[in-house]
Amino acid sequence: MRTQVGIIGAGPAGLLLSHLLHLRGISSVVLERRSRDYVERRVRAGVLEQGTVDTLVEAGVGERLRREGLPHHGIELRYEGAGHRIPFEKLVPGRAITVYGQQEVVKDLIAARLAAGGDVRFEVEDVALHSLESRPYVTFGGGQRLDCDVIAGCDGFHGVSRPSIPEGVLTVFERDYPFAWLGVLAAVPPSSEELIYCRTERGFALHSMRSPTVSRFYLQVPPDATIEEWPDERIWAELKARLESVPGFALTTGVIVEKSVTPMRSFVAEPMQYGRLYLAGDAAHIVPPTGAKGLNLAVADVRVLTEALARFFEHGSSDLLDGYSAACLKRVWRAQHFSWWMTTLLHTFEEDDAYGRRLQLSYLDYVTSSEPAATTLAENYVGLPW
Ligand code: APR
Ligand code: PHB
Repeated sequence: MRTQVGIIGAGPAGLLLSHLLHLRGISSVVLERRSRDYVERRVRAGVLEQGTVDTLVEAGVGERLRREGLPHHGIELRYEGAGHRIPFEKLVPGRAITVYGQQEVVKDLIAARLAAGGDVRFEVEDVALHSLESRPYVTFGGGQRLDCDVIAGCDGFHGVSRPSIPEGVLTVFERDYPFAWLGVLAAVPPSSEELIYCRTERGFALHSMRSPTVSRFYLQVPPDATIEEWPDERIWAELKARLESVPGFALTTGVIVEKSVTPMRSFVAEPMQYGRLYLAGDAAHIVPPTGAKGLNLAVADVRVLTEALARFFEHGSSDLLDGYSAACLKRVWRAQHFSWWMTTLLHTFEEDDAYGRRLQLSYLDYVTSSEPAATTLAENYVGLPW
């Protein structure tokens, strides 16, 4: 088998890349380890930057997103018994975010690829990458072989692409956090119109949503927390204890339909390329979800990679491909800083670190009272221009 771009992984990065390449007349084959059902059901984050929405709409996969996505023009920061709104419409006019589940983006992209006759293969086992320096190829599923001009490693943090790069090539930068997030999807109407990022002495809580009848919540939990330790009643009690910290706010409780524990990690591998292999999305970098940047960064990488590949295939020039990693890393590191900053601002760290808590509260007071400081948060949150 032969194609121009062999894509490993059918997450948002791999699927969007395949679709954008198709629009430029470039062929690809997507190889995904999991089933279609699994990737379409996997509950992940759900905040799309303006630029991400524009990219999906321009690519012709934004129809349902426009219909069902929830545009938001602000978020609330809640701490010390009061809520403070960060008004995007005032601070970053014309820019907003859209709440739309990542697995809905994945469903829309899979449907578009299949409708266009795209080659997306699910439940593909034993993917291995070979000959990355020149004439690369991929083997999989007991003896099958895919020859390609380039390989795009879009297989997430635990994929095979990054580990296929020879030792000594990559430099890794990382930071672990002493907590995890327990994520909960509940069949209850949201108790707030906008997202609430809530800092309490019991730990961080986030109130998000998916639709007028479905809410999404996260709780800061110990790094080794398990689902078994968190029966539904305990989750609701803890969400209430953290979120019902301003007068008049009451949390609507109900049926929990999904829960999972996500570790919190910051990670960047540089450079994001080796020979004819290009890494995109979580395969190259991870951010803690506090800034809602993971999916948006994957989309940004894929935009850069599409332009570089189009130039390569249309003009035979590899100059943009050679500069791919450098072009992506500027945005990657801005999002790394923002995500780390939001995380350290809102979570409880050491119990006895009274000094650290004072610093957090001082900065929260600053961000919620100074327009320049609030604008810094707002412009990073809605996403800097491409
Ligand atoms: N072979 C084939 N496919 C693989 C392999 C493998 N060895 N390993 C992983 N995959 C697949 C995974 O099953 C997954 O479907 O690669 C895909 C990677 O998708 P994501 O993890 O969603 O990564 P990405 O497309 O970069 O999207 C980034 O996802 O994790 C969130 O917060 C993150 O929102 C961000 C987004
Ligand atoms: C979500 O809705 O899943 C969500 C929202 C904001 C975040 C992270 C996740 O920062």
